[in-house]
Amino acid sequence: MTATPTTKERIVLAYSGGLDTSVAIGWIAEATGAEVIAVAVDVGQGGESLETVRQRALDCGAVEAYVADARDEFAEQYCMPTLKANGLYMDAYPLVSAISRPVIVRHLVAAARQFGASTVSHGCTGKGNDQVRFEVGIQTLGPDLKCIAPVRDLALTRDKAIDYAERNNLPIATTKKNPFSIDQNVWGRAVETGFLEDIWNGPTKDVYDYTDDPAFPPAPDVVTITFDQGVPTALDGRSLSPLQIIEELNRRAGVQGIGRIDIVEDRLVGIKSREIYEAPGAMALMAAHRELENITLEREQARFKKTVDQRWTELVYDGQWFSPLKKNLDAFIDESQKYVSGDIRMELHGGRATVQGRRSDTSLYDFNLATYDTGDAFDQSSARGFIDIFGLSSKVATERDQRVQGLESLDDVAPLSRQD
Ligand code: ARG
Repeated sequence: MTATPTTKERIVLAYSGGLDTSVAIGWIAEATGAEVIAVAVDVGQGGESLETVRQRALDCGAVEAYVADARDEFAEQYCMPTLKANGLYMDAYPLVSAISRPVIVRHLVAAARQFGASTVSHGCTGKGNDQVRFEVGIQTLGPDLKCIAPVRDLALTRDKAIDYAERNNLPIATTKKNPFSIDQNVWGRAVETGFLEDIWNGPTKDVYDYTDDPAFPPAPDVVTITFDQGVPTALDGRSLSPLQIIEELNRRAGVQGIGRIDIVEDRLVGIKSREIYEAPGAMALMAAHRELENITLEREQARFKKTVDQRWTELVYDGQWFSPLKKNLDAFIDESQKYVSGDIRMELHGGRATVQGRRSDTSLYDFNLATYDTGDAFDQSSARGFIDIFGLSSKVATERDQRVQGLESLDDVAPLSRQD
């Protein structure tokens, strides 16, 4: 009897090079009998070279390692749409982790196709947003692919990971104990857990890495940011790529302590969680972009876009990057950026990015309409008739209320003190 050669099932794993995903390679292989292919995607998280990460994956038992420098892709196709959408979840969080998941997902699915894998794996726990973002993304781009998360599905705890790495002599440090869970990329940095879980505790110095203390800033730094259709194209007149612009502003706004965020946030899974973020470049760019929109978007367009921006942001936070509605809103947002071009001059200093000047060939700001000087172009006599008609429906309703209920008392409106 001849044994029929069986091809093993293959699983692609989102690999960071850290302890947990290094252990996950062998852990998944032992639990499932499958071959593991490590996928490392550089979205500007810094740290080790892709080559080092690739070698470690192989040394930890991966049969193949797929590494990709996705920094430009991430900056252009994920950070720039977020900027155009003024994407701040709960008016504060610039979606740092939320936008990195879809780019990693695209590479995971590409790697699964390339290596004939049936399953995709990631290192997320069962309590956060990131598992949702990975798996909803994978389901959308590869409906035939299965998902497995060793921390959630195969009981891979931190203690077991340390024990496993030591027993198997994995080439990864198990001693360096970082109390925080950190996720970082070129758009920003997210820090959670440890003593931050007591929401009365303030963040300590060691929480921060992208920013210096805004209380002791260097001299003010004035930067001019040029935008073309909502996308920054130059700093101080130097043409740069989106990635270069984010990186330079991370440095320049970072030393000024700009973009530190401390919030209790509503996760999709129903938990409220304490998060510290640092996003110096992103926050400076958003402040500049919003001000450029203020002068280039027509009033109703601007008001409506705020609603669209918020919905877009919630969809992206909730892991719906590849959803039909998100794509529809992208189309609206892109179209709205047609005239969002020009220069914003801002001062970076002591934790604040303050706009000081704006200039645009497609501006709607009309000095002759706005000026209080003599010779303005605005016909003030039109205002009276406008106000009469604009207030008419409320006036009619008030007259009805008085007829039915009598006069509304204004007794609570009393001056605190009289001068005379
Ligand atoms: N709460 C943020 C989000 O859901 C950040 C998550 C960061 N992940 C981490 N492992 N620290 O987008």
